[in-house]
Amino acid sequence: MTPSTQADVSAEIAALRGTRPGLAHPDRAYAPYRSSALRHPRKPLVVVRDPEAVELSGPVFGTTDVTELDTDLTRQHTGEPLGERMTVTGRVLDRDGRPVRGQLVEIWQANAAGRYAHQRDGHPAPLDPNFTGVGRCRTDDDGRYAFTTIKPGPYPWRNHTNAWRPAHIHFSLFGRAFTQRLVTQMYFPGDPLFPYDPILQAVTDDAARDRLVAAYDHDLSVPEWSLGYRWDIVLDGPAATWIEEGR
Ligand SMILES: [Fe+2]
Repeated sequence: MTPSTQADVSAEIAALRGTRPGLAHPDRAYAPYRSSALRHPRKPLVVVRDPEAVELSGPVFGTTDVTELDTDLTRQHTGEPLGERMTVTGRVLDRDGRPVRGQLVEIWQANAAGRYAHQRDGHPAPLDPNFTGVGRCRTDDDGRYAFTTIKPGPYPWRNHTNAWRPAHIHFSLFGRAFTQRLVTQMYFPGDPLFPYDPILQAVTDDAARDRLVAAYDHDLSVPEWSLGYRWDIVLDGPAATWIEEGR
């Protein structure tokens, strides 16, 4: 089958925005994001008779597992990674703006050249021996998380010809148990790739899409050291952050 062009995909995005406007949560199968059709159940979910038993066999984390080094992705190797050093911080909040404390927040991202340290990422951008791109921390009493990392680059993917993902960081929130895990993505302000990206455009509500974009915060920037970005995650309610369903 001939791969679609960006023009094909952009036309599909525009059509779906017309027929499915205002979605803060995208449809499970969103045709412009080609593989989304393969990523969700087509049959009713099987009800687990004993949900607690699932938690017994699921992953867990202990508060002592998370160390200070986990929050600084620039200090996980012997040298410093290449790229634009930055702080990313924000709060995890419930629908009433209350902090969600003690939450395990995990992130993963590409390096400054847009390459993941993953065997399935083979596109011709360099790996950085000083950057793995994985971090985690626990939210504090204000619900705040904070990471030091480098700004990821955009990267190509094979959704269609000349498909490029805007720069982003993947976020996971663990919840009280693994069955509550939530996954989403954070973007950077002013990225010219936004309109071309069917993953971001699957959120057809403009305000909900904007909530996925961090704010540059000059007061958070550290002189001679790093740039600051702020991004809050709201778990539910009208201001909720879009979450990838069914992970
Ligand atoms: Fe990604």
